[in-house]
Amino acid sequence: MMQETWLHPKDFIYPIFVAEGENIKNPVDSMPGVFQYSIDCLDEILEQVRESGIGGIMLFGIPKHKDPQGSQAYAQDGVTQRAVRFIKEQYPEIYIVVDVCLCEYTSHGHCGMVCGEEILNDETLPYLVKMAVSLVRAGADMVAPSDMMDGRVAAIREGLDQAGFTQVPIMAYSAKFASAYYGPFRDAAHSAPGFGDRKSYQMGCANGQEALREIRADIEEGADIVMVKPALAYLDVLKEAALTFDMPLAVYNVSGEYAMVKAAAANGWIDERRIVLENLTAMKRAGAKVIITYHALDAVKWIV
Ligand code: PBG
Ligand code: ZN
Repeated sequence: MMQETWLHPKDFIYPIFVAEGENIKNPVDSMPGVFQYSIDCLDEILEQVRESGIGGIMLFGIPKHKDPQGSQAYAQDGVTQRAVRFIKEQYPEIYIVVDVCLCEYTSHGHCGMVCGEEILNDETLPYLVKMAVSLVRAGADMVAPSDMMDGRVAAIREGLDQAGFTQVPIMAYSAKFASAYYGPFRDAAHSAPGFGDRKSYQMGCANGQEALREIRADIEEGADIVMVKPALAYLDVLKEAALTFDMPLAVYNVSGEYAMVKAAAANGWIDERRIVLENLTAMKRAGAKVIITYHALDAVKWIV
């Protein structure tokens, strides 16, 4: 009766990696229980998602062809666009969020356009807009820009509105820190940068006040949900954001956080179920309305 925080299946969004090709179900070594699926193999996981009653899924596409402009990110028949169309047709009740970023699609692995070794902020915006619009046209319910270019929320909002998608919300990765916790994801999504790092566009982990400024900027640009990422090492930022802004907050419990729990559990060093529920409860207690997590399907079984 006195418990303040309860987890609910609708809190969770489950990330899914969709690879171009056929007959693919590749385990991601650093993320036990997570696979890359080709579209023809998605049914297995989508049926579990439907059964689970979670809030939605978040799609990451892995194209066969990469080029400097990331053209498969906004191609009409790109792997992510096709996946969205397939899911909307076969599983209309599943809420589809799409990650909007170029790093899985560019040959250099950066989240935007590059010139030499420099990442070009403003030149990247039109590509992100094209990607967002094409995915919504394919049937995506919400877009989640994760690239961290300045001004992208306003640009995407305008692009969606002009294309007639005024009602489609934007979940902005607002306070996204340059983090070693993304390591396993980059294996899963084949998106490691070919040179340098993401520190010119993602945030330094030492800066909490700057994180609040980034969140404020995204709210002013029209974000509907703002995100803090990663989760566990940044719950202070999440809490401060919850106290500062009158906005729904999301948190991304990222790949490295998942990998650490799975590795320790596989060794019998921790109780996986208890650790996962403790971590997820802490995220909600700190202020998260939405929790994006690879544990989603397990957690749902554990909270009932
Ligand atoms: C793409 C993107 C990343 C993640 C989500 N979207 C990787 C990155 O920025 O390098 C990380 C998710 C995770 O680690 O689980 N920009
Ligand atoms: Zn990226």
